[in-house]
Amino acid sequence: MPGAIYAEGLVKTFGDVRALDGVDLDVPEGTVLGLLGPNGAGKTTAVRCLTTLLRPDSGKAVVAGLDVLRQPNEVRRSIGLSGQFAAVDEYLTGRENLQMVGQLYQMKGRAAKARAAELLEQFHLSDAADRPTKTYSGGMRRRLDLAAALVVSPPVMFMDEPTTGLDPRNRQELWEVIKQLVAGGTTLLLTTQYLEEADHLAHDIAVVDHGRVIARGTSDQLKARTGGERVEVVVHERDRIATASEVLAGFGKGSTTVEEHTRKLTVPVTGGAKLLAEVIRELDTRGIEIDDIGLRRPTLDDVFLSLTGHLAEMADEANGSADDAGHEQEKETAK
Ligand SMILES: Nc1ncnc2c1ncn2[C@@H]1O[C@H](COP(=O)(O)OP(=O)(O)O)[C@@H](O)[C@H]1O
Ligand SMILES: [Mg+2]
Repeated sequence: MPGAIYAEGLVKTFGDVRALDGVDLDVPEGTVLGLLGPNGAGKTTAVRCLTTLLRPDSGKAVVAGLDVLRQPNEVRRSIGLSGQFAAVDEYLTGRENLQMVGQLYQMKGRAAKARAAELLEQFHLSDAADRPTKTYSGGMRRRLDLAAALVVSPPVMFMDEPTTGLDPRNRQELWEVIKQLVAGGTTLLLTTQYLEEADHLAHDIAVVDHGRVIARGTSDQLKARTGGERVEVVVHERDRIATASEVLAGFGKGSTTVEEHTRKLTVPVTGGAKLLAEVIRELDTRGIEIDDIGLRRPTLDDVFLSLTGHLAEMADEANGSADDAGHEQEKETAK
């Protein structure tokens, strides 16, 4: 029995571009799948096909037990969609936008009002509820967009890059809201360009590139494929490299790489910050002076590089993408 979201061999071409080149997905009920990939990978196209907004050239999709191609209207009634292309009316207030969505779903006036108020509260928008949404910041728009998708608490939700362009604080807030939602039993397919986001929110991750799922697994499994965490040390004096290497060997779970000219040693580890502290103590005990030491965790770039041999082109380009709502993007703080 297929999961709440199921796709098999989805293909979608735009002229010469094969946006989807045979995508298979299966999301068990009540779980979160993170569709992780760089700009142009095909994430939005996949979401649009699964949510009936776009007809695939071939392939099969079932959402909430309904055939996406044969029962599009029923599918639409069973899903919530928030993302880069969802419409929030600029001239209406936040409250009016949410009430309007409720009415579209045939909620009674009173019920729509109550639900709008509840969501405004939950998404920290009560203070701004009666201002036109064109005065909202990027983070507020994203929250409203998400709230709009939740008016009728659908069993299956799609979120297309819900936090792209948000500052870290707004991103964290949105993560909390999404976690609450999932705790309530919603099945979620979320697209993202951030491994960290998939890490926080998704039970399972499908990495997409050039319209294909190129890897699938939990975030730990994907990170492990890139070599996982490592400790990097730059020793001050070249003639201490050998001793430092011995120290690292005692902590590492693989062989130590030494770059003589930069005096940098790298060793794969498990154990995170606690282990890092132990390494520092041991180096100190042996009197090895260091210029730099750090714990390096794999980034999406590392995962991509190891899976595809090319680097992901990240967030910046998303600003110009045609399906973006054209909002002013909030400044992204590089990590
Ligand atoms: N409506 C469209 N017309 C032409 N090309 C498109 C259209 N939508 C998407 N594409 C192309 O399909 C590919 C996948 O795009 P998209 O699904 O938006 O990727 P992502 O959401 O991962 O950034 C890109 O090369 C993009 O330029
Ligand atoms: Mg997209």
